[in-house]
Amino acid sequence: MADEDELDRLLGKLTLRTAVRLLTGATTWRTAAEASVDLGQLVLSDGPAGVRGEGWDERDTSVLLPSATALAATWDEPLVEELGGLLASEARRKGVHVVLAPNLNLHRSPLAGRHFECFSEDPLLTARTGAALVRGIQAHGVAATAKHFVANDAETDRLTADASIDERTLREVHLAPFEAAVAAGVRLVMAGYNRVNGTTMTAHELLTRPLKDEWGFDGVVVSDWGAVRGTRDTARAGLDLQMPGPAGEWGESLARAVEAGEVAERAVTDKVRRLLGLAAWCGVIGGPDRPARPPLRSRQARALARRAVAAGSVLLANRGVLPLYPGHLGTVAVVGAPSARTRTQGGGSAGVFPQDEVSLLDGIRAGLRGRARVVHVPGPAPDGPPPPLDMTLAADPRTAAPGVLLRVLDSCGSELYAGHRRGGRQLEPPLPPGAHTVEISARLHPRTSGAWRIGVAGFGRLSLHLDGDPLLDGEFAATTDDPAVLHVSPPTRVVTARLTRGTTPLLVARRELVPGTGRATVVGAEPPAPRAAEALAAAARAAREADVAVVVVGTGEQQESEGRDRTDLGLGPEQDALVRAVARANPRTVAVVNSGGPVELPWRDEVGALLLAWFPGQEAGGGLADVLLGRTEPGGRLPTTWPATLTDAPVTRTRPEAGRISYDEGVHVGHRGWLRARRTPAYWFGHGLGYTTWEYERLSGPERTPAGEDLTVRVRLRNTGTRPGREVVQIYLARPGPSAVDHPERWLAGWAAVRARPGESAVAQVRIPARALCHWDVRAGAWRTEPGPCRILAGRSAGDLPLSLEVDVLDRP
Ligand code: BGC
Repeated sequence: MADEDELDRLLGKLTLRTAVRLLTGATTWRTAAEASVDLGQLVLSDGPAGVRGEGWDERDTSVLLPSATALAATWDEPLVEELGGLLASEARRKGVHVVLAPNLNLHRSPLAGRHFECFSEDPLLTARTGAALVRGIQAHGVAATAKHFVANDAETDRLTADASIDERTLREVHLAPFEAAVAAGVRLVMAGYNRVNGTTMTAHELLTRPLKDEWGFDGVVVSDWGAVRGTRDTARAGLDLQMPGPAGEWGESLARAVEAGEVAERAVTDKVRRLLGLAAWCGVIGGPDRPARPPLRSRQARALARRAVAAGSVLLANRGVLPLYPGHLGTVAVVGAPSARTRTQGGGSAGVFPQDEVSLLDGIRAGLRGRARVVHVPGPAPDGPPPPLDMTLAADPRTAAPGVLLRVLDSCGSELYAGHRRGGRQLEPPLPPGAHTVEISARLHPRTSGAWRIGVAGFGRLSLHLDGDPLLDGEFAATTDDPAVLHVSPPTRVVTARLTRGTTPLLVARRELVPGTGRATVVGAEPPAPRAAEALAAAARAAREADVAVVVVGTGEQQESEGRDRTDLGLGPEQDALVRAVARANPRTVAVVNSGGPVELPWRDEVGALLLAWFPGQEAGGGLADVLLGRTEPGGRLPTTWPATLTDAPVTRTRPEAGRISYDEGVHVGHRGWLRARRTPAYWFGHGLGYTTWEYERLSGPERTPAGEDLTVRVRLRNTGTRPGREVVQIYLARPGPSAVDHPERWLAGWAAVRARPGESAVAQVRIPARALCHWDVRAGAWRTEPGPCRILAGRSAGDLPLSLEVDVLDRP
């Protein structure tokens, strides 16, 4: 790693133009190299649930972890740190120096499209989980990126939306997780697309104060991809690196602005110094990359990812049904489309091509093999576009190998490139000079006869042909310049076509490469679905005849994705009817919810048990089967308050009004807002059951504490159940006395996990950081602690706090 003198020496070798060239990416995922200072390229890659690497190609797979919501639900920093280590190992394997994770935005509205990708509604849980991931990634010499700075909490009009937030709320709520990431040593911070209080984040003064000046951030501020919209304002602000490149608003325009005296040269020098410092930290300056720690072996990685599934899954209710005892089971009915096609990740730039995907059905089958019979009924077809062609349905028309043929054609239809691919989702095909059309073709092997749904996604001129007959041909103009939608998840056009079992019709999808229409082309097909009534009847029959039914429901491809927010939280009438039909047929029904964020569960009191699986990553099935079959406890506690209905939630709005999105809930985010509004959610923040029960016996702590100092409290609790368990003991604070400060009714101040065997007691020692008692004093521009009584509450969720004590906060002498 280079010291300051060494950086000065290197800086002295750069001219203004060579310096400026380094401040814009060389490609979509790489920074520029510079031979005069022996600087190599830095490779950056998304995150957060896996490290994709430079390509966006199904042949280059990644270990896929559970969604961020699931990681936060573990309330387990050592585990999150270990998972960060796994991401670093993946990064090393793929030659990536910088992982674009974690996402530290908050669950402000349950409708937010990237909810799954953010940890929590709570600033402290987000801060501690995010810092753990940063430490875990960076411990192995791979840089982490805290994103998206700041208040990029929704997707609607995200390139322009202006979050209107008061200073105290910014400091206490939205900036706090970033402050913790900086304290954890994060090497990069990503400036978001959005505006805050009128200024776009890539040009915002917050990049300087507090980020650099007050918190002492000495790393690199990178723009979100394409978020730089001006030269001078962004260069004068604390932004250091514009991504992607090589085009953009800086480059020669920036060099000229410096020469014209419109941007100070020292601003450029500071940016380059930071970039060189990062390059030195990552080992891409002054010689070859430092030797990589050998990547985690696949078996170790898979075991860790599987452990994380169980640790993050949240058991919301259990009426004596779980765990299942395999020895007592004859037949288990596994019902619902997501049981066989478990949705392992959310949509958008976070997406990776997973190494494998173990469905819940496969996990249960493996867990019960040789012990019980598993009957699967898919239930009604899920909503949304047909799934991308895969190796079970499609074969390359040239080689007959499972998969598809990808071709790039010139304007005369001549082939410029041809290659075999595994599936119909092609996001970054190679584009040789003269490329005019991308074509994906396959011979289909339908196993069902009838009206299939066939879909093609992409912008520009699209066509679909089946055995030479046109199914679709049209011009679909790009409706957005949001890169996530344009390049990753364009809308799908769906047609129906009759396919006959035993035939092998040739499906050809083509997309003309009109500039500005993005890089994605996706072709999918779905077999005819049985009528909803029949599907329900079959599911109910299977449930009735089984000892236990596991019914899996979840959100579809079109919901929960970057680039768009949800408009409702419903799972749809068919999935709701499915759960009800199964639960009516068999009281021993376990409902498993496969979503990245809250959904309405109107039948939640009608099922025997209710388990949140989140988007569990590639080891979904194994990890969830571990929980269902009692090999391990469900470890998760809700990282976000779960509304019964959308209309109950205190903050729902994601659509800006006249360009502005008003954060008028102030510091009352998440459960704090529910408490203030005196509303009761379906499940409180922090809630989640294990397989044992606990008695909270005693809370002890000091009678008084000086302002500005951490304090420690102890909670004694006893395992009153019949199984060993882990309990997440949560501490909340409240200020009972009169106050000039608008305190939340209560707020999370710390937690600690304990383990105990049946009958044993355990003591949780929880440190409450001094900051938890502070508010941001806008007038003084400083943190302040109000003296006076403070109530400390201990328990298992924001809504279940059986113990409390009062501590007197003393004014500083
Ligand atoms: C997302 C970022 C991501 C970047 C690069 C943007 O659209 O907002 O989270 O890191 O793309 O893929």
